[in-house]
Amino acid sequence: MLAKLFLLLTMLLSLGQDTLQNYAEEMSLGGNLFLINRDYAISSDYVPNDLVKPNVQMTNSNIKMRKEAALALEEMFQAAKAEMNYTLVAISGYRSYGQQASIYERKIKNAGKKAASLLVALPGCSEHQLGLAMDLGCKRNKSLTESFAGTEEGKWVAENAHRFGYIIRYKAEWTEITGYSYEPWHVRYVGKEHAERIYELDIPLEYYIDQLREAQYALLERE
Ligand code: DAL
Ligand code: ZN
Repeated sequence: MLAKLFLLLTMLLSLGQDTLQNYAEEMSLGGNLFLINRDYAISSDYVPNDLVKPNVQMTNSNIKMRKEAALALEEMFQAAKAEMNYTLVAISGYRSYGQQASIYERKIKNAGKKAASLLVALPGCSEHQLGLAMDLGCKRNKSLTESFAGTEEGKWVAENAHRFGYIIRYKAEWTEITGYSYEPWHVRYVGKEHAERIYELDIPLEYYIDQLREAQYALLERE
């Protein structure tokens, strides 16, 4: 892992000040790279201003995401169909702070607090509130369980989501870092350039963002 991070840092430093400045904007609230997790939360009233309904198969008609992410989702669903004849299904996209709070409370009732905290983000800490995450299923599996990873469609998503700017955000081996159990169904939009890099390096978003920040500090110190 250290070797990968060193490689990433070296590559980022070679990109120069302008690119890193653009990345800094992408990392701020409203940008595709904004990091939200147990340590970084957003306010209860944050609502993205460009939510749209993606033109894809979905389990209910109220599913929305931010516009750029929605267009990329449409591309991904179309490619799954065209290349493999797979039908992906969108299950949960943007969730308000209040909706996230209800889901969290319900999970505590059903599974207990410890299990709930590994499965559902606290309100204010969910990528769903950013409008940049989508929970996926397929025709035969809309369960939002690890079993999605064993389906042909789930395997395709794991190997191809980056082509459309999405990453598998919560891999099994990253639970200690991300704070959440394996969620093969939860994809997060970060944009194609970053998704390709994160996929190649196979690192959690937390590490990717750390290296971007390191690179920014390193360049500032050089000035
Ligand atoms: N299940 C993910 C962690 C969320 O609730 O945002
Ligand atoms: Zn999710």
